[in-house]
Amino acid sequence: MTVEQLTQCDIKALYSESIRNMETYIMFRIAKRVAELTPSLTEKGRPPVKLSMGAPVVDPPKILTQKLKEAIDQSGMHTYSTPRGEKFFRDAVSERMKNRFGVEIDANTEVCSLIGSKEGLANIFRALISYRSNPSEKEVIMVPDPGYASYADAIKICGGFPYGMRLAPENQYKPDFEDLLADMKSKGITPERIKGLVLNYPSNPIGAPAGLDYYQKAVDFCRKYNILLISDVAYADVYFPGEEPPHSVLEIPGAKDITLEFHSLSKPYATTGWRMGFAVGHKDAIDALERVKGTVDSGIFKCIQKAAAFAMNSPECFEFVVQQNKQYKINQQKMLEGLKSLGWPVEEISPPKATFYLWVPIPPRYKTAADFCTELLEKSGVVVVPGTAFGQYGEGYLRMSLVDTPENLQEVIRRMKEDGFTYA
Ligand SMILES: Cc1ncc(COP(=O)(O)O)c(C=O)c1O
Repeated sequence: MTVEQLTQCDIKALYSESIRNMETYIMFRIAKRVAELTPSLTEKGRPPVKLSMGAPVVDPPKILTQKLKEAIDQSGMHTYSTPRGEKFFRDAVSERMKNRFGVEIDANTEVCSLIGSKEGLANIFRALISYRSNPSEKEVIMVPDPGYASYADAIKICGGFPYGMRLAPENQYKPDFEDLLADMKSKGITPERIKGLVLNYPSNPIGAPAGLDYYQKAVDFCRKYNILLISDVAYADVYFPGEEPPHSVLEIPGAKDITLEFHSLSKPYATTGWRMGFAVGHKDAIDALERVKGTVDSGIFKCIQKAAAFAMNSPECFEFVVQQNKQYKINQQKMLEGLKSLGWPVEEISPPKATFYLWVPIPPRYKTAADFCTELLEKSGVVVVPGTAFGQYGEGYLRMSLVDTPENLQEVIRRMKEDGFTYA
C-alpha cells in the first residue's frame, strides 16, 4: 500500500447518516466552550459559575457512600450483572413503587435496571423505531418541546422523527393529544407511524407539573392508538416542602397495559455520576428493553445496584432529599429576588414547585436566547442554557439550574448587575 493510499483515509465518510447530521450533546458542547474560556474568564475575575447542568453539587448522603464502600469489599460483586438487574435491586424497586406511589410491580417481569434513565430512554427508542431515511416514512415519537434535549437526538440516531408537542402557558404546559394528532395528520403522519409518546412531569426545563387527570387522558389516547406511553419522572422526588408529591402514570388503573415509566436516582440523591435508574411497566416493553440492553450493555455494576437498592427505601436518604428540596426552594426565592432587582418581570414567571430549574425570559433587546446566553458567558462567566437547546419552542427563554451554592448564586446576580445584564 502506498503512502498516498494511506492518506486517503476518511473516517467521516464512514459515519452513519444520523451521526453525520448530529452535533455533540448540548450540555457537553457548553462544557467544552466553558473549558476553552476558563483561562481568560478567570484572568478577568469572572471564573465560570455553572447554572447549566442539572447536576446537584453537594456530596451524596454519607450513609449512601458508606454502603457503596461496603459493597465493594463483598465477594461476588465484581462480575457481570444482567440487563434487568439483580433480584435484590428489582425487589427494592418493587418496594419503592408500592411505598411511594401505591403501585404494584412484579419484580421478575416488570422492572429493568438502567445505567441512568438517559440510557433507558435511548434504548427504548431503539427498540421501537425502525430506521427510515425518507422523511415521509420516518417513525414518530411525540416529545415535549421544550423538553429534555436527549429525547430528540436519541430518536434521530435511530432514524426516527421526534414530533415536538408544544408546551405553552396557554395549554398549562399540557397539550391536548387529539389536537396534536390532528396536526400530525395534516402533515401526513398517520397514527400507525407513531410509536411512542413521551411525557415528562415535573418537566425539564420548565418545572411544570401534571396531575392524574392529565395522565388519564394520556393513557386513554395511547390505548386508543396503540402508542407506547413513555413516562419520564426523573424529577418525581425533587419537589418543594408542602407541595403535592408528583405522581406516577402507573397510578392510573390499567396504565400498565400501555406504559413504560423511567425513574432516575441521579437528581434526588446528588449521584448523577453513579448512573442509577430503572424502568417499570408493561412486561413486553421491559422485554424489548432487555433485548437491546443485553446486546449493548450488560447491566449496572452490582455495587451500584446495592447502593441504589438501599437509597430507594432508606429513611436517612429520604431525609437528605427533603433537606435538598428545601435548599432548592430557597435558591429559587433568592434567584427570583435577584432577577427582580435587575428588572425582570418576575411576577410573570410562575415559579415551579418542583425540580431545581428556572425558566426565564431573555431581555427583549436580544434577538435570540443564544445571543443572550453567549454574551452572559463571555462577559460575566455565567453559564446558562438557551431555551432553544430544548426545542424550537424554547426560543426567547433560558434555563437556569439552581443546584449551585447560595454564594455562587449571589455571585451570579452581583456580576450581572456589574456587567449591565438588566432586563430592560
Ligand atoms: C427529564 C430528564 N430525564 C432524564 C434525565 C437523565 O437522567 P439520568 O440519566 O441521570 O437518570 C434527565 C437528566 O438531566 C432529565 O432532565
